[in-house]
Order: sequence, then structure tokens, then C-alpha cells
Amino acid sequence: MSTWANLGLQDSASPLMEQLIFFHDHALLILVMITVLVGYLMFMLFFNSYVNRFLLHGQLIEMIWTILPAVILLFIAFPSLRLLYLLDEINEPSVTLKSIGHQWYWSYEYSDFNNIEFDSYMIPTNELTTDGFRLLDVDNRIVLPMNSQIRILVTAADVIHSWTIPSLGVKVDGTPGRLNQTNFFINRPGLFYGQCSEICGANHSFMPIVIESVPTNYFIKWISN
Ligand code: CUA
Repeated sequence: MSTWANLGLQDSASPLMEQLIFFHDHALLILVMITVLVGYLMFMLFFNSYVNRFLLHGQLIEMIWTILPAVILLFIAFPSLRLLYLLDEINEPSVTLKSIGHQWYWSYEYSDFNNIEFDSYMIPTNELTTDGFRLLDVDNRIVLPMNSQIRILVTAADVIHSWTIPSLGVKVDGTPGRLNQTNFFINRPGLFYGQCSEICGANHSFMPIVIESVPTNYFIKWISN
């Protein structure tokens, strides 16, 4: 989860989020190089001595500054498309979790294990224990096995919500009347926090998501109660 003064991305807990961070760093590096170059050129204009007052055309430089930006854009576009299609790939999931957004809480269904279903509400500040995280902890956590492919189906019962876990690189809108699908793979145990990220009403900020990632045998034990 994010803690104080953490302005960058959260540590990844899935291979896809790892790839997203790599792409972010790659794109940012190109952005910085362009900004520095353009900034330098603009700054140097202040010291222009107008020695080329009668210059009307420059075929070579115009070729360079037309083609070079196009090539630079390709270096961003191709990795971006690769990631886009990679994020959409479904790799034989072993667990399917159904997640329904409500005003203002999430409800979950494990349809392939005895149809287990429950609601997940945020714990209010005045009922929080000392080790709880304010505005982030919930009464019923999602328990999922680590090192397995997990499919998540997201929908909503009233307005549009969004099921978002930054450390897993997952953000799926829950839309009434539609069923959205994505998948992820958690590569370590722990607690992963997320929040709704579609402006869904007065208590939009108060419907967090908590995933408890556990070894598979613990998950089997939990699911069979
Ligand atoms: Cu649900 Cu914002």
C-alpha cells in the first residue's frame, strides 16, 4: 500500500504491474530527454545574434525534426501496445472472483466454490483498531491464493464504480448491465489495498478494497470454512 510521502508508484505485487512500472520509467525517460532538449533550445534563443537574417529554408534540418519525433513516438507506441494486449490476456484462471459495486460498498462472490458471497464495508474511523488503516480497512477481506492466475469479473448494481488495486496493476470499471473481465497473478503474500476510482457519489472515497494474498493451502482452508 501507499504510505506517507510516497509520490511514485507502489511496489508491484504482480508481473503485469512490474511491466507497467518498466513502461512508465521508459516513457518518463524519453519525456525528460525531450523536455531538456526543447528547454535548452528555447533558452539559447535569448542569445540569438540574428546572423542568419536572410535564411529562408533548411531542407536537412526540417527532414530531421519531422522524422525524428515520429521515430521517438514509435518507441513509446510499440511497448505501450504490447502492454495493452498483455493486460487483456486471460491465462487459464484457477479462481474466479466476482465483484459487484454498490453505493457504497463492494460485494464479492466466489461462484466456483460453494457460491460463497459476502459484502465488504469500510471500517469507520471510530471502530478502527490500533493496527488498522483509516479509510482503507474493510470488515470482510477478499482472500485469494498467491502464485495462481485469478480472474476477476466486475459489475455494478447502481452507478459506475471502479475496482482498482494499484499494486496489482488492476483497474476495471463496474458498470450496471455490463460484465467486465480481467485477470491478475499475485506473486507474494500480503495485504493489498485499493479504492473505487470512478466518481460514484457521496461516499465514493469510503468503499475500499482489501485483498489478503495467502498460500494456496490456506486459501483452500479458508474457502471450505
Ligand atoms: Cu464506487 Cu467511487
